[in-house]
Amino acid sequence: LSTTELDISAIQPGQSVKASFRKQPLFVRNLTTKEIGEANAVPVSELRDPQTLAQRTKEGKENWLVTLGVCTHLGCVPLGAGEGENKGPFGGYFCPCHGSAYDTAGRIRTGPAPTNLAVPEYEFISDTVIRVG
Ligand code: FES
Repeated sequence: LSTTELDISAIQPGQSVKASFRKQPLFVRNLTTKEIGEANAVPVSELRDPQTLAQRTKEGKENWLVTLGVCTHLGCVPLGAGEGENKGPFGGYFCPCHGSAYDTAGRIRTGPAPTNLAVPEYEFISDTVIRVG
């Protein structure tokens, strides 16, 4: 299976970009300190798919949230990765198909989606380049 290398150096804090990985949308987001704080403030026991931000990011790189841009309900592409797009009530991503709302860690918070946005296999091959897959 193929891997994808992405230069993430131009992604500013608060910005999320849409890339692609194995023909699927991939979201790469540079979380602000505030967004990290919001994610860490949520009691994990309240989550439908309990995971901490730390479990969904790489150690020392907690600001980089890398997820598939595929709603776990029926596969629509959530909004929130483009400039000015609706990030939804939890500030992460919002699926317009049936109203699933994801938080700043890409975790499902309301709506029909059963699980968090998937985090693909990836690694940092330098401070500014990730290899996905
Ligand atoms: Fe996203 Fe249904 S496909 S809420």
